[in-house]
Amino acid sequence: MSYKRILITLHGGPEVLQLFEDELPEPKVGEVRVRILASGVAFTDVLIREGLYLGIPKPPFSPGYEIVGIVDKLGLGVCTLEPGQRVVALTIVGGYSEFLCLPAAELVPVPAGVDALEAVNLVLQYVTAYQLLYRIAKVKPGDRILIHGAAGGVGTALLESGKLADLEMYGTASKPKHELVSSLGRVPIDYKHEDFVQQIYSLTGDGVDVVCDAIGGSHLLNSYKTLRNKGLLINYGFCCALNPKWSRIFQRGANFILLSLLQLLLDGKKASFYNIAGFKKQHPDWFREDVTKLLNLLVHKQIKPIIADRLPLAKAAHAHKLLARSAVSNG
Ligand SMILES: NC(=O)c1ccc[n+]([C@@H]2O[C@H](COP(=O)([O-])OP(=O)(O)OC[C@H]3O[C@@H](n4cnc5c(N)ncnc54)[C@H](OP(=O)(O)O)[C@@H]3O)[C@@H](O)[C@H]2O)c1
Repeated sequence: MSYKRILITLHGGPEVLQLFEDELPEPKVGEVRVRILASGVAFTDVLIREGLYLGIPKPPFSPGYEIVGIVDKLGLGVCTLEPGQRVVALTIVGGYSEFLCLPAAELVPVPAGVDALEAVNLVLQYVTAYQLLYRIAKVKPGDRILIHGAAGGVGTALLESGKLADLEMYGTASKPKHELVSSLGRVPIDYKHEDFVQQIYSLTGDGVDVVCDAIGGSHLLNSYKTLRNKGLLINYGFCCALNPKWSRIFQRGANFILLSLLQLLLDGKKASFYNIAGFKKQHPDWFREDVTKLLNLLVHKQIKPIIADRLPLAKAAHAHKLLARSAVSNG
C-alpha cells in the first residue's frame, strides 16, 4: 500500500514543498504507525523549510512540527495504546504526511469531544505559550506582560493562557490585527508606527514583569528596556531571520551573543531563551502534563484556538504562501 507525503528535497521558498508517493512504513519495535488527520502549519515550519532552523535533518525530509492522528498499527512491545485511539505528538519534522511511525512514548492521547484541528493547534503554539508563562516566567495574577506578535499563533495562545492567570497584558501587532488583540481583552500596540518602549512606559509607568520576544536580533535590546526591576525577557524565536539583513547575522549566532550579554548584566533584570524541543528533552514529563492540561482546557472550552484555514495535504505550498503574506494570523 502506498501513502502520500510532502517532501523538501532542497531548502527554499514554498515551491520546494512537493507531494510524493511512497510505500507505507511498518512500525518498528516500540513504535506506532499513526494515520495523520492534521498537521499544524506555523512560522517555525517556514524557518525549517528555508534551512534557518538548527538541529533538523538534511533534505530530503518531510516538514510538519505537530500532528493529530489515529493509531493505525502497533509495533511489537507497545501496550499503552490501542488501534483507533486519537493522539497528538510534537514531531518537529515529518507531520506533512498521511502516515508516520513514531515511538509510542511520544504520543499523548486526546480526550473524547475534542475537535482534531483544535487539538493539533495546542501541541506547538499553546504548549510554548503555556510553558513560557507557567514553567519559565512562573507568572502570578496581576503580573504585567508584553507579548510581541500578539496576533500570531503563539501570541494569541499567550493572550488566551495569560487571561486564565489574570495577567495585565500588552501586545504588539500590526494595525489591522488590533481588533483581534483587543477581543482577547488586551492592549494592542502598533509596532509598525509606534515606539513600543515609549508606549509601554506611558501605559504602565514603570514597565513590565515579563516580555515574550520571538522577533530576536536587535529587537531584544528594546524589549529588555521595557522591563521593570526583577523583570524577565524570554527570547523564543527568530522572526528576524527572514529579514535578509538579519539572516546572515542570525546564522553567526548574533542573537545568542546578544542574549548572553544581556544575561551578564547585573541590573536586577534577567534574560533567558526557550525552545520547546530542548525543553521537552529536559522535561518530557512536563511536556505530557502540559499537553494533557491544555487538552482538558479545550474540553472545558476555557481556550479556543483560532484556526485560520483548513487545507488538504497537497496544498502545503499554498499554506506556506498564506503564512508568509501574514494573510493568516494563526497556524
Ligand atoms: N522556541 C520555541 O519553542 C518556539 C515555539 C513556537 C514558535 N516559535 C517561534 O515563534 C515565532 C512566532 O511563531 P508563530 O507561530 O506565532 O508565528 P506567526 O503566527 O506567523 O506570528 C508571527 C507574528 O509576528 C509578528 N511580527 C513580525 N515582526 C514583528 C515585529 N517586528 N514586532 C512585533 N511583531 C512582529 C507578526 O505580526 P503582524 O502580523 O501583526 O504584523 C505575526 O503575527 C517564530 O519565530 C517561531 O519560530 C518558537
